[in-house]
Amino acid sequence: MDLTTKYLGLTLKNPIIVGSCGLTSSVSDIKQLEKQGAAAVVLKSIFEEEILMDVENQLREAKENSFIYDQYSETLDYIDVHVKKERLNEYIQLIKAAKKDVLIPIIASINCVSSSEWTDFAKQIEEAGADALELNISLNPSDLVSRDFEENIKVIIHKVLTQVTVPVAIKINNSFTHMAKTILDLSQTGISGMVLFNRAHSPDIDINTLQAVPGRSFSSPNDFVESMRWIALLSDKVNCSLAAATGIHTHEAVIKQILAGADAVQIVSALYENGIESINGLLSGLEKWMQEKGFSSLEKFKGKASSKNVGNPAVFERIQFMKHFSEID
Ligand SMILES: Cc1cc2nc3c(=O)[nH]c(=O)nc-3n(C[C@H](O)[C@H](O)[C@H](O)COP(=O)(O)O)c2cc1C
Repeated sequence: MDLTTKYLGLTLKNPIIVGSCGLTSSVSDIKQLEKQGAAAVVLKSIFEEEILMDVENQLREAKENSFIYDQYSETLDYIDVHVKKERLNEYIQLIKAAKKDVLIPIIASINCVSSSEWTDFAKQIEEAGADALELNISLNPSDLVSRDFEENIKVIIHKVLTQVTVPVAIKINNSFTHMAKTILDLSQTGISGMVLFNRAHSPDIDINTLQAVPGRSFSSPNDFVESMRWIALLSDKVNCSLAAATGIHTHEAVIKQILAGADAVQIVSALYENGIESINGLLSGLEKWMQEKGFSSLEKFKGKASSKNVGNPAVFERIQFMKHFSEID
């Protein structure tokens, strides 16, 4: 069976990428993921907010300790630069060590909310040897101020693309007003790939304490449908590769995403819940299905159930429930 696939211009030995999370934040864990069959890993993100917050904390401490006299600006500059260097340095060391110890591609990840100076980090990440860079662009749709999210994303992409030559992917969430057009437009900005979609943090309410509490940290096996729908609708139209993400827990979900047109899938929650050994089961389930269906390679069935290739594309397009599209009266 030929499970190879192209994603971001990289040849992956199979379509299973371990998405950005705590399981990809150390070299020893990455080695284990490679051993279990992962085709690539996206490193735990370096967070723009985290870096900036760290700088602010240090500044506050310095001020409290009367370290800064008379707003002496050179001291401020020193703290700013020093803190950023340290955080970035840890990340750079992780990339370098991972590149030395494993053969699978290492995709670095930056979680960004703006196009401020962190974009310079992209260059250093590239120089450290990362095979690609994924930008997790977390713009907040609950923001009551009117902002042009798509434009902001384009500015971020543009700034990063001027810094690096490695392939750049963006991971977005699924809350755009004009999803289809936004995804198409973004795919034409020079990026090499998109990850559809990131999972938003889910809140909950405790009915005993009447307090807001964090909801489930992990996705559910049914959550894969949202990315499958948009990948099926757009995979033959976008100008970059697509990775499906969120809710991929079974080999059936992996197969469905590839049938919809995904080039690869990213998996996180299922590995936390079922252990990293489950990568093996996903791969053998995929191979067994390919054997049964007579597909000798992934390319033979990629996109075969995309909206363009199915007889009833309306299944992907319908938003409202209609009896015609369901078996329930
Ligand atoms: C514990 C945990 C940590 C995560 N950390 C990051 C992160 O640092 N950067 C990022 O882009 N996504 C992060 N994610 C999101 C995942 O990469 C992924 O997009 C999301 O969980 C949906 O995939 P899943 O349904 O397979 O979990 C994290 C998810 C989990 C559960």
